[in-house]
Amino acid sequence: MSAPEAIDGTHDPFEEFNRRTGAGVVEDPYPLLAMARAQGPVLKENLEAELLSAEIDPGATMAPEVFTAFGYDAVQTILRDGETFSSAGYADVMGAVMGHTILEMDEPEHHTYRGLVQQAFSRKAMERWEVDAVGPIVDECIDAFVDRGEADLVRELTLPFPVNVIASMLGLPREDLPQFHRWAIELISVSFDWDLGTRASAQLRDYFARVLADRRAHPANDLMSTLAASELDGQHLTDEEIFAFLRLLLPAGAETTYRSSSNLLFGLLTNPAQLDALRADPALMPQAIEEGLRWEPPLTTIVRTATRNTVVDGVDIPSGAIVITNMGSANHDEKYWERSEEFDIHREQRQHLAFAFGPHMCLGMHLARMETRVVLERIFDRLPNLRLDPAADDPHITGMTFRAPPSLPVLFG
Ligand code: HEM
Repeated sequence: MSAPEAIDGTHDPFEEFNRRTGAGVVEDPYPLLAMARAQGPVLKENLEAELLSAEIDPGATMAPEVFTAFGYDAVQTILRDGETFSSAGYADVMGAVMGHTILEMDEPEHHTYRGLVQQAFSRKAMERWEVDAVGPIVDECIDAFVDRGEADLVRELTLPFPVNVIASMLGLPREDLPQFHRWAIELISVSFDWDLGTRASAQLRDYFARVLADRRAHPANDLMSTLAASELDGQHLTDEEIFAFLRLLLPAGAETTYRSSSNLLFGLLTNPAQLDALRADPALMPQAIEEGLRWEPPLTTIVRTATRNTVVDGVDIPSGAIVITNMGSANHDEKYWERSEEFDIHREQRQHLAFAFGPHMCLGMHLARMETRVVLERIFDRLPNLRLDPAADDPHITGMTFRAPPSLPVLFG
């Protein structure tokens, strides 16, 4: 198991994706976000476009009026109200490569579809995945470096394990994995490379069509078979709906989990007293996971479109405006969190917005939390005296929309 290699030895789509989305360009956006919050909870601007201006195609800048919500209450209000703030805008770019996914659906279609796909994410399924997939996959990653006494926890553990988990949940053959991962990253690269994204989309569709045909003929105990059989009030998912959901799964489920578990590990490794406290008291695990998500959400912004003239926190938003909700900023709102820039697993808990809020709140959040818990448990069991490698370059979390440390060089034992 490894990170995706270059397709032809010269091009690594993952590196390219990170570079084009601002990893390395932006190290710490939080002081800037605090300044934005101080100006108001909702501002008529697109901070991301300004910060990444060197990277953004001027032809691709968004519609005439763009607002960004920075305050917790404003972000929550917008995400809660799917009628006033539609998700349909995802269809413009992502829809072209993913198909008609749950992300871009509004009510009532969204409600029906979500009812069908969430049958695959039951508590029972979760328990089985923990034992059959997550535990063994994490162990296998650790087996590969445990005797060395040093490792890069990103490249060798947090990056490869969530992709492997999804492939295992889908029942895909192991040997297909590197190709599967490459297609998934190329797919989301559509925002800056249209041809690459659309080609990967077609290739994934053909690949899934073969697997789905096989599962319809020979149902197995996996997610693909569950989706094929799911039923609600006599409705089933069509093949195209299943393909769209499957195309979404890696970007939605693997990219985010790799980043969130890396960010939590970074928080713990740079605060060794908290790492020791957590190791000593596993009861702190749930709050440590939530604090990691609050402090450094892997995905900082999502976008909605206003369907009518409305007012949020005193700011007029006209119908048709693009509304960016900055969940990273909301999670640092000093109205709700003291010393909000600090990572502190002991702080009082309140709901963060890393998984969004309202009708589209993350469908995979219980899976993501379980995966992160299992990774930490295995690390604590198997890598004693874990610490950042003092000889390595000072690692840090980077990125504007997608955030994670590019590497986590550690020593143990
Ligand atoms: C820490 C890890 C994760 C984070 C931070 C995260 C974050 C999010 C966010 C912010 C949304 C809302 C997007 C929007 O409305 O525009 C979302 C939706 C979604 N997530 Fe996650 N996610 C994570 C893990 C997962 C996993 C592991 C899966 C599944 C394998 C998953 C599947 C989905 C799906 C299917 C949706 C669409 C739900 C809907 O539209 O109703 N996510 N996620």
